[in-house]
Amino acid sequence: MKPWGSLPGDDPERDRSAAREALDAAGIDLDPVPPGHHRHAPEGELHVDGHAHPHQHAAPGERPITGIVGGGAVGTALGVALTRAGWPIHAVASRDPERRQRFAARVEGARAFAEPQALIEEVELIILAVPDDALARLAGSVRMYSGQAMIHTSGVLGAEVLAPAMAAGTQIGAFHPLVAFADTDRAVAALHGATIAIEGDEELAQLLAEMAEALGATPVRLAEGSKAAYHAAAVLAAGGFVALLDAIAELGAVAGLDEAGALAVYGPLIEGTLGNARALGIRSALTGPMTRGDVGTLTTHLAALRAHAPSALALYVAAGHREVDLALARGALAPETARTMHAALQDALRGADEAVP
Ligand SMILES: NC(=O)c1ccc[n+]([C@@H]2O[C@H](COP(=O)([O-])OP(=O)(O)OC[C@H]3O[C@@H](n4cnc5c(N)ncnc54)[C@H](OP(=O)(O)O)[C@@H]3O)[C@@H](O)[C@H]2O)c1
Repeated sequence: MKPWGSLPGDDPERDRSAAREALDAAGIDLDPVPPGHHRHAPEGELHVDGHAHPHQHAAPGERPITGIVGGGAVGTALGVALTRAGWPIHAVASRDPERRQRFAARVEGARAFAEPQALIEEVELIILAVPDDALARLAGSVRMYSGQAMIHTSGVLGAEVLAPAMAAGTQIGAFHPLVAFADTDRAVAALHGATIAIEGDEELAQLLAEMAEALGATPVRLAEGSKAAYHAAAVLAAGGFVALLDAIAELGAVAGLDEAGALAVYGPLIEGTLGNARALGIRSALTGPMTRGDVGTLTTHLAALRAHAPSALALYVAAGHREVDLALARGALAPETARTMHAALQDALRGADEAVP
């Protein structure tokens, strides 16, 4: 069982038939179209079966015919990784000719389209790897066909943002890899062993779990309402950590270190701290002046920051308040010392504000 959720059980066929039985028992008809007919949209006209859909169909038991909208960081890395994992990518849609070309060069067999709808005419599983803010508008501008599924890769939005693209007999979901896609090859490697949060009804979730596992990743389902917090933690772990590294490098520069030097000097300290947190727990991994109640060291640091790296001061102060709280909770600090340290941190920021002309 995954720590914060669960996938459908170990026996997918049993889970699926249990779901079907439950729906039957509840008298729910998921596809209330007359037998022998289907339609492409809720308000669309009925077609008799045998009418050819424009999109292709995978043979039973094969991977669904899959296409990716967005030739950016995530779209390209997923295209490369899925293809290598034996999950062919049939098509990409990217508005930018250079990105289209780059994708097609890296992902063998992928046809390149400029328009998302042209891709939708061709595939069964549509992966939207576009910015979070573009998803709703994109979903509102395209239309799926019965039998298709559309997913996005956003960490913060739910699958429901794709609802405008739905027609009868379609499914929507999400597939969010917890990977920092800074470089295609490094991201492809990092997908192996990463966590991928998936969303979708049972059948789609099962397919997405298989897709995650094909990448060597671990699929998880998040508890309802927890996605934004889960993603905010991811942003702190990736972007937030880079911001911290940048501040570390800025201070290192005062001591004469260039960026590579700062990474060489502070990198082992960071890795050691992470190792300590893994081995001992986060609270016990805290070291430094806050655990000792060294107010003099703290005020010396704050003065150095103000003088040499004022743009890193706010970060030091925010982290410092949290460190003091951790040290207090650990029993390492007397409440009076903790108050003094909080006040020193507060004053440093106030002083910085006053220094701004
Ligand atoms: N970057 C990460 O580390 C990361 C990690 C996990 C999840 N994600 C999620 O993955 C998604 C994509 O992120 P990304 O980092 O790959 O972004 P990205 O590198 O900026 O690429 C986004 C792609 O979407 C296309 N696009 C941009 N605006 C669009 C619009 N208005 N309509 C249609 N297409 C548009 C872009 O243009 P073209 O059409 O010109 O190609 C580009 O190919 C986001 O939901 C993000 O939250 C990102």
